[in-house]
Amino acid sequence: MNTVKQDSIINIRIASMLDGLQIHGHKIYEHPTDYDTAIHNHPFYKEMKKRMFEIAKERLDFNSRMMEYGAGTGNLTAVMACLPFKYFLVTEPDDICLRYLQEKLGSNPRLTFDKRDITNFSTEDPFDVIVSCAVDHHVHPSKKTRYLEIIRSQLKSGGLFIAGEELLNPFDDENSRIRALYDYHGTIIRMAIEEGHFDTAQSEAMALMNGIDEFDEFKIPTSVYFDNIEKAGLELQDPEKIGPDDGQEHGVYVVVAKRP
Ligand SMILES: C[S@@+](CC[C@H](N)C(=O)[O-])C[C@H]1O[C@@H](n2cnc3c(N)ncnc32)[C@H](O)[C@@H]1O
Repeated sequence: MNTVKQDSIINIRIASMLDGLQIHGHKIYEHPTDYDTAIHNHPFYKEMKKRMFEIAKERLDFNSRMMEYGAGTGNLTAVMACLPFKYFLVTEPDDICLRYLQEKLGSNPRLTFDKRDITNFSTEDPFDVIVSCAVDHHVHPSKKTRYLEIIRSQLKSGGLFIAGEELLNPFDDENSRIRALYDYHGTIIRMAIEEGHFDTAQSEAMALMNGIDEFDEFKIPTSVYFDNIEKAGLELQDPEKIGPDDGQEHGVYVVVAKRP
C-alpha cells in the first residue's frame, strides 16, 4: 500500500476512534481486563519493563525490601515478582484494580498487597527499591513535589527509585501543552494501529482526551520531571529513553534516582 493511502487510513481510524469515544474515563477502572491487554501491547512497555527488571536485579537480594505503587492490573508486578527479595509490598489505591491484582497474582505467597496512595504513604521500615510504571502522570500538579519527597523518605540510604514514565516535549503554555500531548499520543496511536493493536490505540486516544482536559491525567515535559526528582533530594542517574526513536524528547523513559 502506498504511504499516502496508509496515512489516510490511519488518520481515519484515529478520527473514528476519537469520535466514538466516551470523552473521559480510564479503561483500567472500568474494564481492567481490556486495560491489561491494551497496556501489554503498548509499543514500548515490554522493553521498559525489561530494563526496570534488569536495573532492580542489580540492587536486590533475598534480604531486600521492594515496594510498587499504583500497580494497577499488575503488568509490571508480574515481571518484578520474579526478582530476588524478602518482601515485596504491592500497592494500589483503587478498589477494583486491587481486587483484580489479588485475583491475578494473589496466589504468589511472596507478594503482600495493600490499598495505598503514594501521596499519603508511610511504613515503619524503608525499602531498598521502589518501582512504579505509568503512575506519576496521574498525580495532581499540586502534589508532584510532595509525593517524590515521600518516595525519598521511604527509601533506605542508597536505595533506588526506578520509574517507567511517559514524558512530553517541552511546553510553556496551554497551546504548546496540547501540541505536546498530540505529538506524543499521536505517535503511539499510529504505531499501535500499524501493529494491529486497536485496543492499545483506543486506550491511548482516551489518555489523550483525559490529558487535554486534565481529567486525572497530568503529563509533564522530561526536564520538569527530572527537576522535580532532584528537588525532592534524590540523585538522578542518566535517564534512558526506550522509545519512540523519533529525535524528539517525548517518549517512554526508565528513570532511576538514588537516595543519597
Ligand atoms: C495507567 S495506570 C498504570 C498501572 C500499572 N502501573 C501499569 O503499568 O499498568 C495508573 C495507575 O496509577 C494509580 N494511581 C493513580 N493515582 C495514584 C496515587 N496518587 N498513588 C498511587 N497510585 C495511583 C491508578 O489507580 C492506576 O492503577
